[in-house]
Amino acid sequence: MSVLEEVDVPVSAEACSLDNYLVLPDNSMDERIAAARRALGKTTILLGHHYQRDEVIRFADFTGDSYKLSKVAAETDANYIVFCGVHFMAESADILAHEGQQVILPDLNAGCSMADMAEIGQVEECWETLLDAGVSEGEILPLTYMNSSAAIKAFCGERGGLVCTSSNARRAFEWAFARAQKILFLPDQHLGRNTGHAMGIPLDEMTVYDPWQSFAGIGGGITRERLRAAKVILWKGHCSVHQRFLPEHVDNVRAKYPGIQVIVHPECRLEVCEKADALGSTERLIKIVREAPQGSSFAIGTEIHLVNRLAKEFAPLGKKVVTLDDAGCLCTTMYRISPQHLAWALENLVEGRVVNRIQVRDDVKYWARAALDRMLEIRA
Ligand code: 13P
Ligand code: SF4
Repeated sequence: MSVLEEVDVPVSAEACSLDNYLVLPDNSMDERIAAARRALGKTTILLGHHYQRDEVIRFADFTGDSYKLSKVAAETDANYIVFCGVHFMAESADILAHEGQQVILPDLNAGCSMADMAEIGQVEECWETLLDAGVSEGEILPLTYMNSSAAIKAFCGERGGLVCTSSNARRAFEWAFARAQKILFLPDQHLGRNTGHAMGIPLDEMTVYDPWQSFAGIGGGITRERLRAAKVILWKGHCSVHQRFLPEHVDNVRAKYPGIQVIVHPECRLEVCEKADALGSTERLIKIVREAPQGSSFAIGTEIHLVNRLAKEFAPLGKKVVTLDDAGCLCTTMYRISPQHLAWALENLVEGRVVNRIQVRDDVKYWARAALDRMLEIRA
C-alpha cells in the first residue's frame, strides 16, 4: 500500500509555542527531531535548501537547489513533504505534489523578498501595458523565475510561458525564443539580464519595467517605443542578499588571495558576474568546488550558510573557500526555519496534526503546474 493511503490528518492552526520550543537552545532539539523522524518513518520526507543552517539541513533526506528540490517533490510518494526552504519553494512542491500529499513549511514567516517584489495585480497591469503599446500576444512569452508566487507561475502557464530556476534559465530563454520574439522576465532583473547577456543579447535590447513608475502616462516608466523594441523586458526585482556583492569585492579578494577563483550566483548584478570566473545555481557552485583539484581556492558570492559549510567541508581536503564579501550575506528569511520550528512541525505530525500546511488554490494550481511541468521538461 502506498504511504499516501494511510493518513487523514486534520490541519491545525496553532503556533509554535515559546515554552516547549522557542526559548529552548538549538541543540536541545536534535534528539527530539531525530526521534520524530524515526516515528514518522517513510510517511514524511524532509527537503532542505542549501541556504538552510547546519542544525536544520543535517536532518534533510534531500538537499538541493530550487530545481533539484522541485524534482524530488514531484517524484516522492511520501504523505508529508516538510520543506526547509522558503514559501515559494513549498508552494511549488504543493503544486507538483500528488493528490493527498501535504506540504509543510515549518515557519510561515520564511518568505522571499524578491518573490514579494512582483504581485499578480502588477503583473497583469504590465501585460495590459505591453498589449496597449502594440505588442501582440503571439509575439511575447512570460517567463518567471521560481522565486515568485504561485499566482505568477499560473499567469505564465496560462499564456504559454514557463518557470525557470537559476540552473535552467538559459534553456528556458532558448525555449521561449524558439516560440516568440520577446520575453517578459519576472521578477529578478539580474538573472534575466545575466542570462540574456550570456546569450549575446545586447544590453540595449533589454529594458527594465518598474511596476512602481509611470512615464508620460505609460506604466513601468518606459515609452511604448522602447517596450515594442526590446527583446527582453526585465521586471524590476532583485535579491537583497545577492545585491550586496559588488565588483570591488571581486578586485579585493583577487588582490588578497592571488589565484583565487571567484564563483557567484546569477542573482548577483551583471558587473559582478562579468568579473567572476563562473556563475551557477547553488547546486552548481557546490559541484565546482567539489570537482576542483586539491589546492584550489574559491571566493563565493552567495548566501553565507552555504559558503561557511563549504569552507568547513573542504578545508580538510586542501581546498580554501571564503565569502566574496567579508560582511557575509545572510538570507534572513531562510534563517527563519529554526530547529525549534522543525521539531514543532514534526512532533505535531507524530501527534497526528498538520501545522503550517502550504496549499495553493486549485484554480491557480492548474496553470502554475503547466508552467512548472514545462520547466521540468526542459531540465536543468
Ligand atoms: P538556487 O535555485 O540556485 O538554489 O537559488 C535559489 C535562491 O533563492 C537563491 O537566492
Ligand atoms: Fe529570496 Fe534572496 Fe533569500 Fe534567495 S537569497 S530566498 S532570492 S531573499
